[in-house]
Amino acid sequence: MTFDTKQLLADSLAAIAACEFSAALEDQRITLLGKKGKVTEALKTLGSVGPEERKTLGAALNEIKKDITAAIDAKKADLTRNELNARLAHEKMDVTLPARDIPRGRIHPVTKVTEEITEIFARMGFSVAEGPDIEDDTHNFTALNIPESHPARQMHDTFYLHGNGDGKTLLRTHTSPVQIRTMSAGRPPFRVIAPGSTYRCDSDITHTPMFHQVEGFVIDKGIHMGHLKGCISEFLKTFFELDDVPVRFRPSFFPFTEPSAEVDIGCKRSHEAIEIGAPSLSSSPQAGGTEEGWLEVMGCGMVHPNVLKNCNLDPEEWQGFAFGVGIERLAMLKYGIPDLRTFFENDVRWLEYYGFMP
Ligand code: DAH
Repeated sequence: MTFDTKQLLADSLAAIAACEFSAALEDQRITLLGKKGKVTEALKTLGSVGPEERKTLGAALNEIKKDITAAIDAKKADLTRNELNARLAHEKMDVTLPARDIPRGRIHPVTKVTEEITEIFARMGFSVAEGPDIEDDTHNFTALNIPESHPARQMHDTFYLHGNGDGKTLLRTHTSPVQIRTMSAGRPPFRVIAPGSTYRCDSDITHTPMFHQVEGFVIDKGIHMGHLKGCISEFLKTFFELDDVPVRFRPSFFPFTEPSAEVDIGCKRSHEAIEIGAPSLSSSPQAGGTEEGWLEVMGCGMVHPNVLKNCNLDPEEWQGFAFGVGIERLAMLKYGIPDLRTFFENDVRWLEYYGFMP
């Protein structure tokens, strides 16, 4: 049999040269060198020719197989380069385009204000303590000088969980039980704040069933009302970022402090807005619908001797002051948030508006 190897080579090289894309070249490779390809088929015929011819034809076929392979490789490199160049020319990137906006979460005002309060007291040397949200009757009431029959229990609208008597469990109605836990577990002096969630079965414009407080207390020797007033005035000035905040300590009652006071700050009200730190305080309506007056922000007092005794501290030796402040209330005043309930609705638009950048 005669086999025109030269023609096969010429045709193959022409077909390779004619390929315009990598995909066409790959088809061509299969047509020539694949299992059923032209060169492969030609090699298969070697078995049916005489020994002499097999030698020359075999050598010639192997030679053209090598040439074809080399031609394909060279063409492939060519096409790949051309295709890459074409892509680079086509796919232009505009490096001056602004980056795409990545949606980012915000810090909730409760978290932000908790951090602010913690930082201010940390600078005054207070450390942070925590207590459980699920409390027992003893820590939430009895040890704080609020016995079973005490009318103050009614004020607290408690969520009871289970149990009876002092073993009753409940959702803590205030952060004051952390006073008891801290004082019972360590030795004075104490200078502690305790931020956390508190719960009361109450819900209207100014009350939510869950809210947040920061408790603070100092127990040491020779502590008096002057320390309390200085500490709280300093805190309020720093928190509201004002050189001077009018602060008033108004006599009040809490079972766990004696004497007790409510702290008011001077403010100016016009329409919906409240501005802290009114220049002169007459609490009479002013021209232009502006009214100056006092706003209650927190409770405080000197720790009651019974509370110290309940924590095995001798009131003759140790004295202290304590205070409790509502975090949402401070956040509303500082950042002008008008409605308490919105704090817990998780409306993304609200969070975007009142939340803080991380
Ligand atoms: N526990 C009180 C409340 O929730 C707030 C409070 C008032 C805390 C006076 C105190 C304090 O430590 O001395 O209404």
